[in-house]
Amino acid sequence: MLDRNNIPRHVAIIMDGNGRWAKKRLLPAAAGHNAGMKSMIEIVRHADDIGVEYLTVYAFSTENWKRSKEEVGGIFKLLVKYVDSQLRELMKNNVKVNILGDPSAFPGEAVQRLDKMASETKDNTDLVFNIAVNYGGREEIRRACESIGKDVRDGSLAPEDISEEEISRRLWTGMYDVPDPELLIRTSGEERLSNFLLWQCAYSEFVFADALWPDFTPEEMDKAIETYQKRNRRFGGR
Ligand code: IPE
Ligand code: IPE
Ligand code: MG
Repeated sequence: MLDRNNIPRHVAIIMDGNGRWAKKRLLPAAAGHNAGMKSMIEIVRHADDIGVEYLTVYAFSTENWKRSKEEVGGIFKLLVKYVDSQLRELMKNNVKVNILGDPSAFPGEAVQRLDKMASETKDNTDLVFNIAVNYGGREEIRRACESIGKDVRDGSLAPEDISEEEISRRLWTGMYDVPDPELLIRTSGEERLSNFLLWQCAYSEFVFADALWPDFTPEEMDKAIETYQKRNRRFGGR
């Protein structure tokens, strides 16, 4: 049973398996991404219902540009469709959306919708829903280094003052005051980070679910949280 008094504050999810879900049905990858979006809508509602404070999902990685133009273009169109169909519900549920990553290379229509969703929801105070798009953990750390380097060059930051907090603050998560995730879930049976939240996951619990992302239900999410609740987090202590 899910312990309602021990819900992780921040759950991060690598939503993987859309392609395999489609392939099993002899459908194009786009059909899998479409089904994956429906799954994401359910999971956002559920996270909000059970009292998760921060939900972060990996929607498009800096490596996903390697895929075909059709597939990548289909994902951009889905982002537009997501905002157009969900913004009203997000507002009603008081969900605040942050975009992690740099979607500026996406088509204008997608950039405009993502900006609109972030700006319209910015004062909402319930679930914080972070969508990582064109996100890479290494790129995020590289940017933090670049910004620190500039401040050191300008004399506004001393090298000895480059603390862990100073680095955290300059990550996309830091810009929105998002704490490190207690729990990271990856679906589809793959067990790797694929460049997601490299810095932030230093002490996160990892739970790997076999379900392909379009098959990942709120019940599956509860199971993953129950697994997390049975773990003994030591943070290096006894
Ligand atoms: C995850 O599903 C969604 C994105 C990367 C956008 P995949 O498309 O990676 O699905 P598989 O791993 O090929 O099954
Ligand atoms: C990670 O999944 C990226 C997203 C879920 C957006 P991938 O399917 O791209 O990762 P790999 O290729 O299996 O490592
Ligand atoms: Mg994949």
